[in-house]
Amino acid sequence: MKFDRTKKQAAGKKGSAAKTAGVGAAVQAKKPAKKISPSRRQASAGRKAAAKSQSADRPKDNGPQLTQEPGKVALESYPSAENRPFSSPLEVLRGRRIVLTVTGGVAAYKAAELARLLTKNGAQVRVLLTKAAECFVTALTFSSLTAQPVASDLWAETSARENVAHVAWAQWAEVMVTAPATANFLAKLTHGLADDLASSVALAFGGPRLAAPAMNTGMYLNPATRTNLELLRQRGYRILESPEGLLACGSVGAGRLAEIREIAWETARLLTGGPLEGRRVVVTGGATREPWDDIRFLSNRSSGRMGACLAAAAWLMGAEVTFIAGPAAIVPEVSPEGLKIVRIQTCEELLAAVRKAIEGAWALVMNAAPADFKPAEKVAGKIRKSKDKLPQLALTRTPDILKTLASELGRTIRVGFAAEDGDNPVQRARQKLKDKNLDYICANRAGGAGDTFESPDIELTFLSAAGREIPIGPVPKFQAAWTLWELLAAGTKRS
Ligand SMILES: Cc1cc2nc3c(=O)[nH]c(=O)nc-3n(C[C@H](O)[C@H](O)[C@H](O)COP(=O)(O)O)c2cc1C
Repeated sequence: MKFDRTKKQAAGKKGSAAKTAGVGAAVQAKKPAKKISPSRRQASAGRKAAAKSQSADRPKDNGPQLTQEPGKVALESYPSAENRPFSSPLEVLRGRRIVLTVTGGVAAYKAAELARLLTKNGAQVRVLLTKAAECFVTALTFSSLTAQPVASDLWAETSARENVAHVAWAQWAEVMVTAPATANFLAKLTHGLADDLASSVALAFGGPRLAAPAMNTGMYLNPATRTNLELLRQRGYRILESPEGLLACGSVGAGRLAEIREIAWETARLLTGGPLEGRRVVVTGGATREPWDDIRFLSNRSSGRMGACLAAAAWLMGAEVTFIAGPAAIVPEVSPEGLKIVRIQTCEELLAAVRKAIEGAWALVMNAAPADFKPAEKVAGKIRKSKDKLPQLALTRTPDILKTLASELGRTIRVGFAAEDGDNPVQRARQKLKDKNLDYICANRAGGAGDTFESPDIELTFLSAAGREIPIGPVPKFQAAWTLWELLAAGTKRS
């Protein structure tokens, strides 16, 4: 299947890009960055093997041609962003082959929603039902939603072409998702039982696997289940731990199925091949607010969408991400483990949050639009309206984050954004790149034609300290973000 966005873009379908990054709802931050564990490494190997086995079906990746020397990537050979595949996070799923195993828990009905979401985003989804799952949902539900075969019987006759079903399905799949996963099925996975079709396919499959448990709290917290989950994790399973909430049995506690969109995002992440795996990145986005009184503030029109796209794309590519976002900034619609969102208000808070996050980070991408000036004094309470006199606003400078942190950034790759108006924004961006000792800068337009603020699309010029210039777009912001990470991942290192 092709990933050609150009026609759509040429037709000027901006509306489609409004879905960019699937961004919107505010999220809570979760766990901080970690070192790669053996299980993640195993999962990564599985992902890479799956990605390789699928290469014939994927668009050819004409990524950057690398030289051996760090920081000397032959960027001029990079293809235009219009040819890059994804314009929104779940588009990663397009054309990919997913086996979704549904087991016998009450949450089985939610698997229909998951099958629909994956299918809607272009994945081919084949569903395996356990016998117990068939007591809750029907094969017809899933075949209607996916237009793909649904199977449950190990002993059913298979077509000559399909070989033996459990082997054929395992060979067909690029990723296996078990949602919901019952306590019973998790135990079977852990111990290698293969007494039905779903468990046999699972045992035969060697690629990336994800399981989202759902059960009564007692079953979930039982040491047997905890041990099984831990063992599966160690063997490379991506386990989506269950959030707390109201359960079907009426009690409140752990045991709910993870959110459907989160399962879909995690599935997409397993399919990317993890080009940024093991890297920690810090992304800033959105406008700061500089208070004048308790009600009023100075700010700007930055929506944070580009930052959200950068954060989402890096996470999908396997990075551990800290996204430092302004108070009204758009953030990714899900908050999975490894995608931490830190909300800040002012430029000073942004500086403090970046300082806290950058230690050991591989890259810092400063996409936020911090205010350059702030009210010299913050007035307590609300400034009253008066008939005779207008309040006077005196301004002072806010801190320059990159200059302030220059000595703390070490070998972290530094990427800035320069939203410029008037003539020759590229020239001004290059000056900023030098002034701020950046490795790269993305010149884009503020105001007038091609204004990037609040837009779902962006047109930018990617400039390197070595003097290279790569035009990107106009494309959906998520597509530009994906392209930027590919460029950065292509062996660049701060020397
Ligand atoms: C009404 C009902 C609801 C159930 N809900 C769950 C559940 O949410 N999670 C779970 O692990 N088991 C649940 N069970 C138990 C499983 O259905 C049972 O362990 C079954 O053997 C699982 O088979 P499977 O793993 O092959 O799908 C439920 C059973 C019933 C009768």
